[in-house]
Amino acid sequence: QNIPATLVEGDGIGPEITASVVELLDVLGAPFAWDRQSGGLEAVEKYGAPLPQQTLDSIRKTGLALKGPLTTPVGAGFRSVNVTLRQEFGLYANLRPTKTVVSGQHFDHIDLVVVRENIEGLYAAKEYYLPDGDDPQGLAFGGGFNSRRECARIVRFAFEYALANGRKKVTLVHKANILKLFSGIFLEEGRRVAKEYEGRVAVEERIVDACAMQLVTDPWQYDVIVTTNLFGDILSDLTAGLVGGLGMAPGANIGTDVAIFEAVHGSAPDIAGKGVANPLALLMAASLMLAHVGRFDLRKRLDDAIEKVVHQDGVRTRDLGGTAGTKELTEALAAALR
Ligand code: NAI
Ligand code: MG
Repeated sequence: QNIPATLVEGDGIGPEITASVVELLDVLGAPFAWDRQSGGLEAVEKYGAPLPQQTLDSIRKTGLALKGPLTTPVGAGFRSVNVTLRQEFGLYANLRPTKTVVSGQHFDHIDLVVVRENIEGLYAAKEYYLPDGDDPQGLAFGGGFNSRRECARIVRFAFEYALANGRKKVTLVHKANILKLFSGIFLEEGRRVAKEYEGRVAVEERIVDACAMQLVTDPWQYDVIVTTNLFGDILSDLTAGLVGGLGMAPGANIGTDVAIFEAVHGSAPDIAGKGVANPLALLMAASLMLAHVGRFDLRKRLDDAIEKVVHQDGVRTRDLGGTAGTKELTEALAAALR
């Protein structure tokens, strides 16, 4: 147990799914030494903030975190915890692999990855409403920026990911036909970076709306998709839908010094405490975390166990049309790992 990592259970179903994942990583013999820290509503009660200083300090120190879903308290004075984490640690890349585990749904054999720029674009914007108040002539103004440096960095991340993971093609997704500067800069930098990988990884370009259409008519043509913040946010939820929804969608937020792994879904308050939550999205995030620290051997064993139990043996939670509870699924996975 030699790699320190921060663990934040999170809200709602967070404690149930993190308990499941930590148990399975234990059985697997994963090398993480957990530093448990609080976040979300529990932290608001204890420390008056959803992301207390101790938690941030721990993540800065370990550079590695597995985190359950955090509820952003509604009300004045609280920024989105997820946006805060991305900005605080410069987590510029959001990696969302999408792979079919359970066949026989609308789509089969899906295996693609969305790489989303995570700190610029429209989400870096301040919004304004002019004039103040509810004047019928009022207008809302939003903006944002994309920098050359960041566009090049995210595209390079996508190509490096492709090389390291045996992927053949990277698609640059943009809207440079309309947003000639704002999206054009991404396309320009993307083309420039792509040249460095000529002969090793193929490149193609798509306009984002056409890409969305093709993702539901012929998703198999895609391999690695790289795009700016807002487009990536939307497309990666779409791709999660191709493989059974949010319960099957892991995500990684990666910066130069810190990487945070999580499920794409939220705290699911409607099913919290009922023992029916699907732990697979967080478990697959842990699998990405194993790859991140170079333990491809353990990652493969974990992925194989998921494939066997969920796909072949059909042990599934309700969101996947099954009847298993979190515990049952966890026990079946633990047995497969042993
Ligand atoms: P949600 O993802 O929590 O739930 C949407 C639907 O999916 C619900 O019906 C839920 O039961 C189901 N679902 C989600 N995860 C599931 C799982 N593992 N197994 C089975 N079913 C699952 O989205 P919602 O309701 O919009 O957000 C709830 C809270 O989560 C909000 O406070 C929001 O701020 C927070 N949130 C946090 C995120 C994070 O920390 N990364 C991401 C998204 C939302
Ligand atoms: Mg989103």
